[in-house]
Amino acid sequence: MEEPPALLRHGRVELRRWHPSDLDALHEAISDSLDHLMPWMPWAATHDRRQGAAFLARNQEEWVSGETFGYAITSNSTVIGSCGLHRRIGAGGLEIGYWLRPRWTGRGHATAAATALVDQGFRLTGIDRLEIHHDAANPASGAVARRMGFTEAGRGPAPDGPAAPGELGITVVWRVTADQWKAGASARADR
Ligand SMILES: CC(C)(COP(=O)(O)OP(=O)(O)OC[C@H]1O[C@@H](n2cnc3c(N)ncnc32)[C@H](O)[C@@H]1OP(=O)(O)O)[C@@H](O)C(=O)NCCC(=O)NCCS
Repeated sequence: MEEPPALLRHGRVELRRWHPSDLDALHEAISDSLDHLMPWMPWAATHDRRQGAAFLARNQEEWVSGETFGYAITSNSTVIGSCGLHRRIGAGGLEIGYWLRPRWTGRGHATAAATALVDQGFRLTGIDRLEIHHDAANPASGAVARRMGFTEAGRGPAPDGPAAPGELGITVVWRVTADQWKAGASARADR
């Protein structure tokens, strides 16, 4: 199975493949982010070390199967969040997910991490579109997609309704194609 590199860099962030030995760092990052994550991330309400260990174990399995490539977002070796490329939107596509610890928001780190994932995603064989999905009540997530040059491809009711307490149950889908991403490369290099 084709794999992306375990380390990716963009701007001031480094993405490092999650490893089971990261449990302490993951647990610390989630524990100081609970109020910030709970409105949007269904797993935050039940987070504990056991759930963190299960996440890291699943990440190993899904990396090997090619289902999900999950990375810690780090800055100067500190874990400041998490992100990943997910094969769950059909052939030719990858969905990007991300979260940051609240004290690391507002500095462009999520946009940098997502940019590294898009660059890498389009290097994987057969990938011609990248998407970001978020609830309509979560504009901070959509702003990351907009900043990178994604365009809104549609919005509609989430099949199972709201998954977390802050959600409306309306999913917004942002998309960029490989050609659009290539066309925006020189503008991104100027930033
Ligand atoms: C979604 C989330 C990761 C976005 O974080 P963020 O800090 O807004 O995004 P970035 O790290 O890209 O930072 C963007 C901000 O930094 C500013 N910024 C500063 N330098 C920047 C740079 N070099 N590049 C881009 N933005 C920069 C931007 O102007 C923007 O500020 P603004 O919100 O006041 O306009 C964060 O809100 C979060 O973790 N939410 C909880 C989890 C979640 O909802 N995840 C998504 C589920 S779909």
